[in-house]
Amino acid sequence: MPKFRSLDDIDVRDKRVLLRADLNVPTKNGVVTDMTRIKRLAPTIEALIGGGAKVIVMSHFDRPEGKRDPALSLRPLIAPLGQAIGGRDIIFAEDCIGAEAKRVVSALRPGQVALLENLRFHKGEEANSPDFARALADLGDVYVDDAFSAAHRAHASIDALARLLPNAAGKLMQAELTALTAALETPKRPVLALIGGAKVSTKLDLLRFLIGKVDILVLAGAMANTFLFAEGRQIGRSLCERNMADSARQTLVLAHQRNCRVVLPEDVVIAATLEPGVATRTVGITEVPSDMMILDVGPATVTRTAALLEKTRTLVWNGPLGAFETPPFDRGTVAVARKIGELTRAGKLLSVAGGGDTVAALDAAGITDELSYVSTAGGAFLEWLEGRELPGVAALATAVTDQ
Ligand code: 3PG
Repeated sequence: MPKFRSLDDIDVRDKRVLLRADLNVPTKNGVVTDMTRIKRLAPTIEALIGGGAKVIVMSHFDRPEGKRDPALSLRPLIAPLGQAIGGRDIIFAEDCIGAEAKRVVSALRPGQVALLENLRFHKGEEANSPDFARALADLGDVYVDDAFSAAHRAHASIDALARLLPNAAGKLMQAELTALTAALETPKRPVLALIGGAKVSTKLDLLRFLIGKVDILVLAGAMANTFLFAEGRQIGRSLCERNMADSARQTLVLAHQRNCRVVLPEDVVIAATLEPGVATRTVGITEVPSDMMILDVGPATVTRTAALLEKTRTLVWNGPLGAFETPPFDRGTVAVARKIGELTRAGKLLSVAGGGDTVAALDAAGITDELSYVSTAGGAFLEWLEGRELPGVAALATAVTDQ
């Protein structure tokens, strides 16, 4: 695991702590619709308050592309953030740098919390501008990064700023890194990766990296269709990236060379259209009619996956097994999710999952809390699974070596 300081290693009493959070949360008509990221950030804010810090929360929200856009203000986050930390007041600064931010920060007392306006209202944020980072650094004495889910972005508040101030990882960042390290760097074997979702093209790097790390790779979702097609199977009108067939075949060869067993669906649920409640059939993988679509894994595949999971010690999961947003094509995902929950509860499996769709599927199955760890990250989780260095993690680690 990369070396970094944690909150236990820094003294924050009476200090202005710049806390990089990820408040890029789903909203509808200005109302937060999923509190997960906010709730997972709360322990860090509470620890800083408990340590006597003046807490200054910074985040991006959506992609305003360097321009002030009232529709993308962080104002709607004030109330949910306050609620997540026991109903405390949040003092809002209309800008994240300059006179307005300084005014708010200079009035802060230890134990108080300020929230700065959207970092991405300034072009310097995404440009990783040293000047913008210095303007942020002027507001604080210490930097804490708790935004693992944004750690794949080399932006000023994540990269340049981390190198300007004494820094540490927040509790959520620490938990994410500990869980992901346990799953892929020092795992108990056998390790099984369950990878679903729609596209092979967006996950090729991830598959190639995992092949070198895991013992079994179970493929499902529409991406499995591309592998089935590459193996010469009839997949009817199923979603498939036919132009990726060569890459899929190369991936299978690589897996063979690396002793990684790849498991594809043996039966599937098919229908003529993707609509809720449409008539479905379950067929063996060699029996998909030319006018039908594969929309979920079948019960035999679920049983076999469950049997493989029984023998697994560590699981990494990304991507649903079928078109889970449209019932009844959520059944395979929900059944496997429940099995993972059961084995994890029994202490037989360390289970780590992440990625937007996966988290939504786990929520739908009501088992988010039953896994060992569910990452709050989408893109950052996937980049970690590709074996890439994340700028946000690297900046914390480099700064430790430098200071
Ligand atoms: C996320 O939600 O994945 C992060 O906040 C990163 O957002 P971005 O893709 O707009 O950089």
